[in-house]
Amino acid sequence: MTKVCQADSFVADHVRTIPRSGIRDFFDLVQGMAGVISLGVGEPDFVTPWHIREAAIYALERGRTSYTSNLGLLKLREAISAHLEEHFGVRYDPTNQVLVAVGVSEAMDIAFRALINPGDEIIYHEPCYVSYSPSVTLAHGVPVPVACRAEDGFAVRAEAIERAITPRSKVLVLNFPTNPTGGTMTRGELEKIAALVQRHNLLVITDEIYSELTFEGEHVSIASLPGMVERTIFLHGFSKAYAMTGFRIGYACGPVALVEAMMRIHQYSMLCASIISQEAALEAIQHGAADTAEMREHYRARRNLIVKAFNDLGLTCHLPRGSFYAFPSIRSTGLSSKEFAFQLLKEEKVACVPGDAFGPGGEGFVRCCFATALDQIEIAVERMGRFVRQRVG
Ligand SMILES: Cc1ncc(COP(=O)(O)O)c(C=O)c1O
Repeated sequence: MTKVCQADSFVADHVRTIPRSGIRDFFDLVQGMAGVISLGVGEPDFVTPWHIREAAIYALERGRTSYTSNLGLLKLREAISAHLEEHFGVRYDPTNQVLVAVGVSEAMDIAFRALINPGDEIIYHEPCYVSYSPSVTLAHGVPVPVACRAEDGFAVRAEAIERAITPRSKVLVLNFPTNPTGGTMTRGELEKIAALVQRHNLLVITDEIYSELTFEGEHVSIASLPGMVERTIFLHGFSKAYAMTGFRIGYACGPVALVEAMMRIHQYSMLCASIISQEAALEAIQHGAADTAEMREHYRARRNLIVKAFNDLGLTCHLPRGSFYAFPSIRSTGLSSKEFAFQLLKEEKVACVPGDAFGPGGEGFVRCCFATALDQIEIAVERMGRFVRQRVG
């Protein structure tokens, strides 16, 4: 007898365990509501600079519509290599140490898949970008979060990482400046982490997608510290620095053996990143520095306004030294992160993301993305002021 098909019974067990993104659920709700000011989605409000769009158009015009090498166009890999040497102090051979991917998202996924054996433990600091933990689970690894604290400016302490290390620990994931907290690290703090990584023979994956959006202090890549380039996979992309989220383009650099392993997964799953996006990325990395600098100054002005407004309202907010996220505490209102975000949306039509979407350590906070026009931020904080005063009295 033919059995009734229960489609969900075919879903793999490890996929069943991963939750839907808290951000997605929330923004399904925002869609279709009129008059909402969104401090929600983490993407630049700027359109990709014209000369970069033009490079994409010109690529199409020239009939650049083919596959590329699996690693990406050599001229783009050469430009990435030169850029990293100049700005990050790390050297990668463009012929075999640079892989162009479909965003940092794909680069991160293939890095995990290339490294993780079932049961390997992957340590990362939390609150963190929503995809780290599910991506580790999908690669059959065990996610091990280490809490960062607001009192430390959401930097991660070497001692906290050391306490999480076990014989199954394999990889440490770092993301500075951090989504969602805007936390950054000093050279000294990174040196301590580099020492313990070497002592415990770990590998680092460093996601530096917000590095160009550093407002104060130098951005240091852990890959540039002594003894680290050989045990680091460096991830970066074009989405944030050049407002190119829709182009879906990023890259991974690292030791030859690891780039080769990642490339084998990439060639069978993605084949290559879009050639049109690669041509646009080449223009961005060679001629986009002034655009990035201009956008950064806009973000800085917005950051200063929003952080001051939150602190004035009693929503204690550390100054994010990088990224375009403010992460105020909402504990003074007595609400949970979800209650705060849902009630604020319903009553005042301001969308922000509940902090627990970024891990349990995010409870008591909300993430407010300030990649939104200044006048919109001004209205948003006015509305939030009304909302908070009603609760705090
Ligand atoms: C920390 C972090 N890494 C990676 C990504 C994904 O970037 P991409 O657009 O390059 O896939 C994001 C996007 O928000 C992010 O915040």
